[in-house]
Amino acid sequence: MPNAPDSSPIYLDNAASTAVRPEVLEAMLPFFAGDFANPSAHHTRGRAAHDALDDARSDIAEVFGAVPEEIVFTSGGTESINAAIKGVAFAQMEAGVGRHVITTEIEHHAVLHSAQYLERFGFEVELLPVDEYGRVTPEQVAAAVRPDTALVSIGYANNEVGTVQPLQAISEALKARASSLGRRIPLHTDAVQVANSHDLNVDRLGVDLLSLSGHKFGGPKGTGLLYLRRDVPFLEQLSGGGQERQRRSGTENVPGIVGIARALHLAQAEREAFVTRTSALRDRLLHGIMTACPDARLNGHPTERLPHNLHICFPGVEGESLVEALDHAGIECSAGAACTSATWEPSHVLLSMGVPLDLAIGSLRMTLWPSLTVAQIDYVAQQIPVALEQLRGAPVS
Ligand SMILES: Cc1ncc(COP(=O)(O)O)c(C=O)c1O
Repeated sequence: MPNAPDSSPIYLDNAASTAVRPEVLEAMLPFFAGDFANPSAHHTRGRAAHDALDDARSDIAEVFGAVPEEIVFTSGGTESINAAIKGVAFAQMEAGVGRHVITTEIEHHAVLHSAQYLERFGFEVELLPVDEYGRVTPEQVAAAVRPDTALVSIGYANNEVGTVQPLQAISEALKARASSLGRRIPLHTDAVQVANSHDLNVDRLGVDLLSLSGHKFGGPKGTGLLYLRRDVPFLEQLSGGGQERQRRSGTENVPGIVGIARALHLAQAEREAFVTRTSALRDRLLHGIMTACPDARLNGHPTERLPHNLHICFPGVEGESLVEALDHAGIECSAGAACTSATWEPSHVLLSMGVPLDLAIGSLRMTLWPSLTVAQIDYVAQQIPVALEQLRGAPVS
């Protein structure tokens, strides 16, 4: 068996989490034990921590094309999404606007389960179906709008298959439909997967709320951002000392906030290079895999997809077994199906896209990073057919 180009594992799971960048770690370190004070405190080190928060907030606002007051620091993507969906929905309910929420069938569970939670309070949640590539159309969104629609939430890009939604066009169609009803309907986007590769200017995108998670773009885990447009109705989900302008109480995670701000700045500054490098590596890997395994099938949109995402079905194998076999060969990636109580359950995303069950259970997600080398990519392309051959020789349980 050929050896990996060097002894460390080849990491192809960057949609799950990324390494903290050295520049980010360096920026965070002073705030753990030196300038550790509570940013609400009125002494010198408290003020230093507060200044660090202000600087981070301004840097992030600049990326979003927003004002600093519209940025809310959270504990991650999940919290930002919960706050956006529940915070707006409950405020709209309180204002008597309505209890109808629109989202899609392929959202991350942070969105789907937040929406389902609202059903306990009398909300109706409409899940829009997607096409075979995982896309919704602006027309679908506009057609689903009702006079009592409180919120629309459409993910910018899918975390499994990497399909990118036509968010700007969706926003325009939503605005037109809402104004025909004499309304304004807030649009939230789960942008957790896109900060490395896509524009985050909220006015260009036409979104009112946007959620991010620090560890997806070289920042620390347990850090998140919510962009919340000034005039959007919002009821806070964490009550307490009134931090974050009453929108998210709790002592701020100063090192984490400094880290996520630095990571976002770097990710957005390097966006073009990220896209160029990862899409070239991705195309090389896809070509290598398809040449060696002509029965493999690419999931997601062929062009409107994240540059670093490959999601592929391999007939006749289980994704989890393939992940395990590749792990033995020093390659870390993830499966698109999970085994629960002895049955294979393909993801809700693949099912919604109409991928047949037998194909869906054999899916593999590989998410790349610019630091990968061509030699590493070629090694992966070489190892996949080897692993498939081993597994197909073995009985499928
Ligand atoms: C699209 C998407 N939304 C939300 C989340 C949740 O983010 P976190 O786990 O950082 O809370 C993830 C994480 O994988 C994601 O990929």
